[in-house]
Amino acid sequence: MGSRLLHTHGGLGGRDALGIAFAALFLTLLAAAPAGAAIYPRTAAPQLPVSSSKAQYAVFAVNDLGMHCFQKSYAGFMILPPANNMKVQVFRRGSEGASLVTSGIKIQYSVIGNTYSAGKTDFWQYASSYGYPGLKANVGITGNKLSGTMTWSSKDRWWIATAIPVTPYSDQLVFNPLQTVKITVRSTKTNKVLATQPKVVIPVSDEMRCDYCHGPQNTAASILQAHDAGNGTHLYADLQAGVRHACSECHADNALGKPGVPGVKPLSQAIHGFHADKMTMTTVTPSCYTCHPGAITKCLRGRMAAIGFTCTDAKCHGSMRTVADTQAAGRQAWLQEPTCAGCHGATYAENPGQLYRNSYLANGPENMNGKKIMCEACHNSPHAEWASTMSADNAEPINLQGQATYIRDCRTCHGGESGKIHGGGGG
Ligand code: HEC
Ligand code: HEC
Ligand code: HEC
Ligand code: HEC
Ligand code: HEC
Ligand code: HEC
Repeated sequence: MGSRLLHTHGGLGGRDALGIAFAALFLTLLAAAPAGAAIYPRTAAPQLPVSSSKAQYAVFAVNDLGMHCFQKSYAGFMILPPANNMKVQVFRRGSEGASLVTSGIKIQYSVIGNTYSAGKTDFWQYASSYGYPGLKANVGITGNKLSGTMTWSSKDRWWIATAIPVTPYSDQLVFNPLQTVKITVRSTKTNKVLATQPKVVIPVSDEMRCDYCHGPQNTAASILQAHDAGNGTHLYADLQAGVRHACSECHADNALGKPGVPGVKPLSQAIHGFHADKMTMTTVTPSCYTCHPGAITKCLRGRMAAIGFTCTDAKCHGSMRTVADTQAAGRQAWLQEPTCAGCHGATYAENPGQLYRNSYLANGPENMNGKKIMCEACHNSPHAEWASTMSADNAEPINLQGQATYIRDCRTCHGGESGKIHGGGGG
């Protein structure tokens, strides 16, 4: 530990000040923006009429997470590749009920005004080093592009496009982490457009500021050298020899389904545990926003953010120490996260043993339960729960029900105006 402390001075000497200056610059920029407003361009929610119950289909499209992050540069190592997951459920409206459409349709997605990614990130230059040999530019790690066709998952009962390699840069290179996708539903028989969801947020950011502390120049080299000094590895020598490493080669990472090397801590445990006592080196608040997007991106922007909750609330993730220690005590990173039920109680619980993003309504009116309506269809992704503080997120509920809040108007799917959903029956 002593040598590590010494190395802290050797490795970061002189660069801390710059890092802090950078942080200060960002804070200044933030201070100049109106209170509560983000400084990247907001997309105004389209003012559409209440979608009338005459429309035959209701299209619910969501990103699985409130924000995906990726690295500006993969020249030194890889934590996570660019990869967003979009999910869609389509209901055919009826007078009394509605039916989940599971076949006979084709669902296309297309990121709006953002048609390429290569060059906006250098990922494809190095993809083969990280175990994705032959991956063509602009193609994600599961084969999907910035536009394409979704596949039906009979297991999950939703349509999905995984690992869309989207970046927060439009084709004009304007930074906006709330990129949007157009969803088009067609009949497979006639190819006619049956319904659309014109603007759905696909949130992504590369605001990962390791450079605040590891230095703005040679950030990756500084990180690898620190790693080698602390753990007896030779990641930096490897890099100089042209061999690049993904952290998940050695550290288990459930986000990528990588088991890691036995005896080495899972990546989330290693990174949060090691840095827990280093965060005073920046002034970013909450400190999570140094590595997670971010002071500008403001990943946390949903209903709970609106009333002042932050990442570190005890019923949310807690401190960095907590994020690490809970793993030491057996929590599986990415697979076990805070729950809605933790604050809202059992009536609003996730399905047993499941994350919110993989749960479905279970205690609604008769016939609405089971693997039928995903929680996210009515409430949106975690961290961006409707009503979101960002208008771009609210375009979908406005389009569906004419209100910028969670889906509460029964007419979105079938007859009947209002009433309770949860506890209305079922299990
Ligand atoms: C708030 C400051 C801060 C930030 C932000 C930060 N680090 Fe660090 N990091 C440190 C300090 C201090 C050390 C110890 C330096 C040393 O040993 O030279 C360190 C060391 C490391 C190590 C070596 C660990 C070991 O066992 O010795 C790795 C790997 C690392 N950081 C990765 C990252 C990555 C990746 C990011 C961005 C996602 C990041 N750090 C962001 C401060 C920071
Ligand atoms: C070749 C294998 C290997 C690779 C690749 C690797 N690590 Fe490690 N790392 C280790 C080993 C071994 C340790 C020491 C055992 C431990 O702490 O789990 C370690 C320790 C760490 C620690 C210190 C944990 C602690 O509690 O002291 C951090 C932080 C870390 N690694 C981050 C990273 C990051 C970030 C990457 C990718 C840039 C990475 N590692 C890539 C093998 C590796
Ligand atoms: C030093 C950089 C750094 C800081 C600061 C940081 N994180 Fe992370 N965090 C990471 C990295 C890197 C990953 C992704 C690891 C992976 O690929 O699995 C991650 C992943 C996570 C995950 C998903 C994995 C899991 O453990 O379930 C959660 C939750 C998380 N962070 C919460 C937080 C919270 C809360 C804070 C602030 C209290 C925070 N992080 C601060 C680097 C950081
Ligand atoms: C840390 C505690 C906490 C967690 C975790 C939490 N919430 Fe909340 N939530 C609140 C509080 C407090 C309110 C405000 C209650 C009020 O206004 O009566 C609220 C309000 C809401 C509302 C608005 C209710 C209304 O009728 O206006 C919705 C919807 C909601 N939460 C959904 C969720 C979902 C979905 C999750 C899980 C992804 C979640 N919440 C997780 C604390 C939490
Ligand atoms: C996301 C779309 C959606 C929304 C919004 C919705 N429902 Fe439903 N509802 C369904 C589906 C799907 C069924 C199942 C029909 C079936 O399989 O028979 C259903 C069935 C029902 C049924 C049973 C009727 C039957 O014949 O099966 C009742 C009662 C009901 N919903 C009440 C409500 C109420 C009250 C609201 C508003 C508070 C509401 N629903 C909002 C999708 C929705
Ligand atoms: C068909 C739309 C729909 C689905 C699907 C749905 N909800 Fe809700 N949710 C609502 C409505 C409407 C309310 C307002 C209160 C009510 O009706 O019970 C609500 C309220 C909530 C609240 C806020 C409760 C409070 O204290 O005010 C939480 C938390 C919540 N839901 C979580 C979930 C979770 C978790 C799931 C999946 C297991 C889910 N919801 C699925 C429509 C839905």
